[in-house]
Amino acid sequence: MCGIVGYIGNKNCIPILLNGLKRLEYRGYDSAGIAYIANGEAHFVKNKGKVSSLEDKLRNLNIVSNLGIGHTRWATHGVPNEINAHPHFNMAKNLFVIHNGIIENYQTIRTSLINLGYNFITETDSEVIPHLIDRFLNEGHSLCRSVQFALNEVQGTYGIAVIYLNEPDKIIAARKGSPLVVGIGENENFVASDVSAILAYTKQVVYLEDGEMAVVYKDHFTAKTIADVEIEKEVTEITMTLDEIDKGGYAHFMLKEIMEQPDSVQNSMRGRLLFDEGTAKLGGLETVADRLVDSKRIIISACGTSWHSALVGEYMLEQKARVPTEVEYASEFRYRNPIINKDDAIIFISQSGETADTLAALREAKQRGALAIGICNVVGSSIARESMSGIYTHAGPEIGVASTKAFSSQLIVLALITLMIARRKDMSLVDGKNIAVEMEKLPDKIRQILKLNDEIEFIANEFKSSRNFLYLGRGYNFPVALEGALKLKEISYIHAEGYPAAEMKHGPIALIDDNMPVVFIAPKDSTYDKIVSNIEEIRARRGRIIAIASENDDNIDKLVDYSIKIPDTIRMLMPILSVIPLQLLAYHIAVKKGLNVDQPRNLAKSVTVE
Ligand code: G6P
Repeated sequence: MCGIVGYIGNKNCIPILLNGLKRLEYRGYDSAGIAYIANGEAHFVKNKGKVSSLEDKLRNLNIVSNLGIGHTRWATHGVPNEINAHPHFNMAKNLFVIHNGIIENYQTIRTSLINLGYNFITETDSEVIPHLIDRFLNEGHSLCRSVQFALNEVQGTYGIAVIYLNEPDKIIAARKGSPLVVGIGENENFVASDVSAILAYTKQVVYLEDGEMAVVYKDHFTAKTIADVEIEKEVTEITMTLDEIDKGGYAHFMLKEIMEQPDSVQNSMRGRLLFDEGTAKLGGLETVADRLVDSKRIIISACGTSWHSALVGEYMLEQKARVPTEVEYASEFRYRNPIINKDDAIIFISQSGETADTLAALREAKQRGALAIGICNVVGSSIARESMSGIYTHAGPEIGVASTKAFSSQLIVLALITLMIARRKDMSLVDGKNIAVEMEKLPDKIRQILKLNDEIEFIANEFKSSRNFLYLGRGYNFPVALEGALKLKEISYIHAEGYPAAEMKHGPIALIDDNMPVVFIAPKDSTYDKIVSNIEEIRARRGRIIAIASENDDNIDKLVDYSIKIPDTIRMLMPILSVIPLQLLAYHIAVKKGLNVDQPRNLAKSVTVE
């Protein structure tokens, strides 16, 4: 949520900041701005809208500067306009701050600063930070100490980068609850909220932890705590490549990421299936495997799409591993004073590994003594680092705001965990081997489904003007209905709801008429006959039906307006296949409506505020 990039070195920082901001735009994109120091003066340029409009503005200014910071914003406090865009500054306009996160006590600080004569010009919470720092500078403290004193007064979350005209040899970066890395170059250094912003320039990074800060000079940096205790930080080498975060010839990141799923799913299970033993080997769980297998209960906690994969995980773990499993929204979990026992295992799922609610829930679980396991995609992310043990999904960078390949990879990891626990309990070797063999076949089956792209695009064209959609599924496919509906509303702004198919009769059926498309996830499994009855009920009310059905199901064509036929697999793996046509359907409807699928309005890829 919001992106930060900063540069100090011998090169011109402007193209570096713009390049970084474009890479970060998926985190927020309602306004952008930079501040820089050049020829003994400090300046800022801000703009409402995307980074490209900031770039247009900068093009005519011909700026050359060796020190600058840039921000792309996702508004929390104050409408997205030029004034509220970051960087924010003190009254002398010689100190600039960019901030990710939320300052919860900003009203109190603002009032006390106004009483001291400070003028506020924005509606943001962030603007208190430069004024607070300014107050301590005026008392004669250094920039570093002033930042520390200021941060001691704020409550909430922050990732900040600060530059100051009177100390033009440094950028100060500090973190609490919002990710920040320092990038190490040769005679140049960087600050960023996400490594993708600086990957073109360096692969050596230092991750700041909560309560830490870095004073970044062009040829070295020092790390300390906000309480001013010097600390040693480890330099990490990033393995991600620039190619992995480019569009690779696709019109949108979302389409690229949907199409990558045969490979991303493969990567998620690579080396983790033991075919002869019919089980899974998960290196990240080795030290806690006994405790996990012995857990009396598993809780899975997540947000958004990751919460939907948690729901599929609940079915997997209960049906196959026979462990009582509960799923909790991370935001609810942390404030509900949940009953957590020492023999509970809690799995936190997060693509970004930075979602504020999930991270806070993880910390709560650890504090209460539960086994806390993370399933993350972003390597080195906060949740990955703070989990007691964890498993990476290895789906590769996901840039499109609507999550696609991360979801299928999360399901693979949940299936691997289920298999591992089930085999150590009472699942037979034959059943275990069958699951492993079926998992291995998934990439080819996904390839087969992706060939239906044109057919799905045709269906999308038929329904692009619909105002509402209903998605229905049973059992394992109920969470897929939720995910299909979420994909559609996220990027096409069409109102869509997912329901367990049988629940339709308890309310949504009142909405059915010939304007209401209903998507059924109806593979030939043990719930098939019941789903067919639900289809008949919709037909009787002249609803328009799209069915995701098994490839050998000829019967269904008589009942529905459109069918999308996909290969079968065992029930627990079906969501990994049945979600793919729904991702493509949402994608094509949004494209046909002329919408920006990679950066839908109001959304952000990584929600680092509560
Ligand atoms: C945001 C994204 C969703 C994502 C959710 C949880 O809302 O737009 O795509 O599912 O956050 O994110 P996480 O990174 O924790 O999986």
